[in-house]
Amino acid sequence: MENVKSIRCDPDYYTKAFKIVTDKCNMYEFLGKWIQSEFPRLVLDKLAGSFSAETPINMLGVGSGSGETDSKLATCIKTRFRSVRNVVVEPAEKMLDIYRGLIDGNKSNFEGIEFDLRQLGIDEYRAQEGDHPTKYHFISTIQSLYYAADFEDTIRYLYDCLEEGGIMLIIIVSDTCGSWRLWNRFPLIMETSTGSFFCASDVRQCLSSQGIHFEENHQGFNLDITSCFEEGSEEGGLLLDFITEIIDFRGSVSPDFLKEVMEYMGSDQCSERKEDGTVFFNKNWDALVVQKPLVAQSG
Ligand SMILES: C[S@@+](CC[C@H](N)C(=O)[O-])C[C@H]1O[C@@H](n2cnc3c(N)ncnc32)[C@H](O)[C@@H]1O
Repeated sequence: MENVKSIRCDPDYYTKAFKIVTDKCNMYEFLGKWIQSEFPRLVLDKLAGSFSAETPINMLGVGSGSGETDSKLATCIKTRFRSVRNVVVEPAEKMLDIYRGLIDGNKSNFEGIEFDLRQLGIDEYRAQEGDHPTKYHFISTIQSLYYAADFEDTIRYLYDCLEEGGIMLIIIVSDTCGSWRLWNRFPLIMETSTGSFFCASDVRQCLSSQGIHFEENHQGFNLDITSCFEEGSEEGGLLLDFITEIIDFRGSVSPDFLKEVMEYMGSDQCSERKEDGTVFFNKNWDALVVQKPLVAQSG
């Protein structure tokens, strides 16, 4: 199809559609609760076991978006350490504008935390860092590794950037997630886009093949996509564009293809239909937590 354009090529449009998604599924609230309930055990206690409370923690956020989640992670880490310096690698200008507003509007919450926001993609960041990249105690990649040119190489690179005892958090779509099924069912989506398409089992395999130990945490999550099936709904159109990763999906593909995709999206392969007609798209995700051994293993 000639007229299709990937949402990954237009950061402003991506930001607009992503905002609809996050609002619709209360994503930041959900992640905020996850940070309270799971993050201390999965990450914070381990960091505190590796580094003294006086350590100025270096944190890297990859694709941190508008910062609602990563800034909470930084705040949580700060409760156990003297200071946190958070380098943020995020290419979307509008996301960074919101992130700046969040920092400026909540200065008292962020005492002892220094933010260094850089408008860059991860591949550009790597190029800038050169042969001796900065080391970090904590690296966060929340639903953002898809946009790296090569996710496996990026994981290897980020692992190398960890201090011994440091931790990398990778949040990624689960094998059961509707998005993953949709991407596989309709290759047009992957062919139109840049970056990579993969799910948690690919990351598990990538880590295992390198002998990198990891811990896992699975989260069931869903997104109300009922408005996607309402003709003319602007919200539904943007949700559809985010899920298919194609700008103006309804207007860019043939009616037959649109029908086929919508049917699949609404089917039990991807969604759960409630008796009242509400359709919940499966957005399950996995958190994979990697800790670099304190003493680097030889061989
Ligand atoms: C699904 S959003 C997740 C945002 C944030 N981590 C969160 O959980 O709210 C993906 C983020 O990756 C960013 N992104 C896109 N291309 C990127 C790249 N090449 N390198 C790093 N991040 C990228 C997007 O702009 C977006 O903010």
